[in-house]
Formats: sequence, structure tokens, C-alpha cells
Amino acid sequence: MENTAERKKIVFSGVQPSGQITIGNYLGALRNWVPLQKEYNCIFCVVDLHSITVRQVPAELRRRTRELLAMYLACGLDDENNIFFVQSHVPAHAELAWVLNCYTMFGELSRMTQFKDKSAAHSDNVNAGLFTYPVLMAADILLYQTDLVPVGQDQKQHLEITRDIASRFNGIYGDVFRMPEPYIPQVGQKIASLTEPEKKMSKSDTSGGSVSMFDDRDTIIRKIKRAVTDSGSEVRYAEGKHGINNLMTIYSCFTGRNFAEIEKEFEGLGYGAFKEAVGLAVADAVGKIQEKYNAYLADKDFLDGLMKQGAERAALLANRTLSKVYKKVGFYRP
Ligand code: TYM
Repeated sequence: MENTAERKKIVFSGVQPSGQITIGNYLGALRNWVPLQKEYNCIFCVVDLHSITVRQVPAELRRRTRELLAMYLACGLDDENNIFFVQSHVPAHAELAWVLNCYTMFGELSRMTQFKDKSAAHSDNVNAGLFTYPVLMAADILLYQTDLVPVGQDQKQHLEITRDIASRFNGIYGDVFRMPEPYIPQVGQKIASLTEPEKKMSKSDTSGGSVSMFDDRDTIIRKIKRAVTDSGSEVRYAEGKHGINNLMTIYSCFTGRNFAEIEKEFEGLGYGAFKEAVGLAVADAVGKIQEKYNAYLADKDFLDGLMKQGAERAALLANRTLSKVYKKVGFYRP
């Protein structure tokens, strides 16, 4: 007979504290974590180990780690029912990553598009951590026997390699890891840069192409007003019109209106009026989140307590998987 007392599914996701979190991170990831917290056991991590694959200023990294946790909460994640922690507080992540490194092929890692992009962008620092980055991400996910990983489109390839590593390991040692599934939103999975709409919006872009979740109202409105749009003037979603498609996507995510409704709303009004409306919609939504963010950030003791308690709960779960892995690969335990 089938086991009817079904185990509650596990969700795991994280963001790197490597720069100012953008509306791309919010729309592609954070926003979609919120509805999942009702149904699943959710674990949300600030992935600081990942962020040192690119040079960071230590004091800024430390500050951004706590800020990012405050932002998770401000975006609507419940501090009571989810586990929040910082990756470097749970040593099992680095430990499992080492083991999994020995079950991941050089060729597989060489094919990762993020590695290719990042090594081109940081050609003076193509370090081994940048290369094995997806293995650490696989460890994050597999440690918790995760079912669902809510991320933006750019992480899909990393989810695929995670599954490949897991099935290779399971193929040798039996069912050690649960097979995780990506959970990618239909709208908002790839928010583009405002200045180079063929590229994704990124935390590290400080040239006006990214809207940060920390930008003030005027900055947001100004950045969107200056967004690169395509030739023509009609607000219509169409193949190849990256600039306008991106703004329509952003507007759709923040207002809940679909593309047909947006086209109707701005019929005959042109890009200028549309950009103004997008700017206002983004500024309103981000402004509300910032209010909550400021309140959370002011309470250092609360945030520190939450991440400490989260790390303890996470370590308990993670060490279960790690022990199993150590046993399977043949590590001696007295
Ligand atoms: P990171 O910090 O680059 O981005 C965090 C999340 O935001 C999504 N995202 C976007 N979505 C839509 N449009 C964009 N322009 C955009 N930019 C970023 C990302 O897909 C991601 O979901 N490797 C991960 C962090 C990580 C992780 C994990 C995620 C480490 N371990 C385990 C899930 C599970 C990263 O660099 O995300």
C-alpha cells in the first residue's frame, strides 16, 4: 500500500550577497518564494560562500549579508515558519561540495554558460571557485533533500548539473539524494538590463541598467524613463523588441495585468506615457518593501538571532545527509 501520510515537500533557494539586489532578483526569485511558504517546508539561504568567487570588499560583504536577510523578510517571507540562514554558518555546505567535486566532470563544468560569462567579465581572476561554483550550489540543494528550487531562468543550467551529479552519485551508492526540480516563473524569469535589453539585469551593473531594491523613488523613475526602447512607438509585445518586452514584463509583474490588457491600456499613448506608468508602478511597489526593510534592518538582535537559530536548524538537516554521504563513500568513523 502506498504511504498516504505524505512528507511535506522541501523548497530551497538563495541569493548571493554580492551587490545591490535588483528587481530582477525580486521578480525572478524572491517574489515567487512567498506563495510557496504556505505549502512547503522552505529553507532560504544567503549564499555568502558563492559570492567570494568574485572579489568582495570584506566589510561590504558582511553588511550586505544582514541586509539581504532583512530584504528576504521585507519581501513577505514569514520569519516563523521558514528556515533562514547564512551559508558559511553551516559547514556541511563546503564539506559536501568537496565530496561532490569528486563526482563532477571537468567537461561538464566547462560547459556552464555562467562560468564562461563570468570568466570573460573577470578575466584577471578566473579562479577554481568560479569553475566549481555549480558544485557548491548542488551541495546546497542536495543537503536538504530538496524537491523544488525556485529560481530565475539563468539558474536552470545549474539545476540540470545538480540533477546530473545527484543521479551519478545515486547510481553508484543507491538513493542518497532526492531529485530536485527547478521552479521558474512564466513571467519575470529573465528581467533584462534597461540599457542593454539583450542582457539580463544584474546586481553588479552600476551603469543605470539595473533597478536596485534599494533605489529611491526618483532614481527608479529616472532609470525607467531612460530605458532603451526599440524603434516605433506602439506598446506591443513582439518578437525581437527586447526593450519594450522587458518593460511590459516588469509592468505586468508589478500590476498583475497581462500583456493584452497592457496593450489596451496604452493604445495610442506611446512609449513616454508607458514608461512613466512603469516607473510609478515599480517605485510604489519597491517603496512599500523598503519601508518594511528599514524596520527589519533596524533590529540587529532580531536578525542575528534569526540567522543563528536558522543555522542550527539547517545544520541538523544538512548533517543527516552529510553523514549518509560520508558512510557511502567509505570514510572511517571510530
Ligand atoms: P543570484 O544571486 O545571481 O540571483 C538570485 C536569484 O535571482 C534570479 N535572477 C534573476 N531572475 C530574473 N531576471 C534576472 N535578471 C535575474 N537575475 C538573477 C536568479 O535566477 C536567482 O534565482 N547561484 C545562485 C544562488 C544560489 C542558489 C543556490 C539558488 C546558490 N545556491 C541554491 C538556488 C539554490 C545565484 O547566483 O543567484
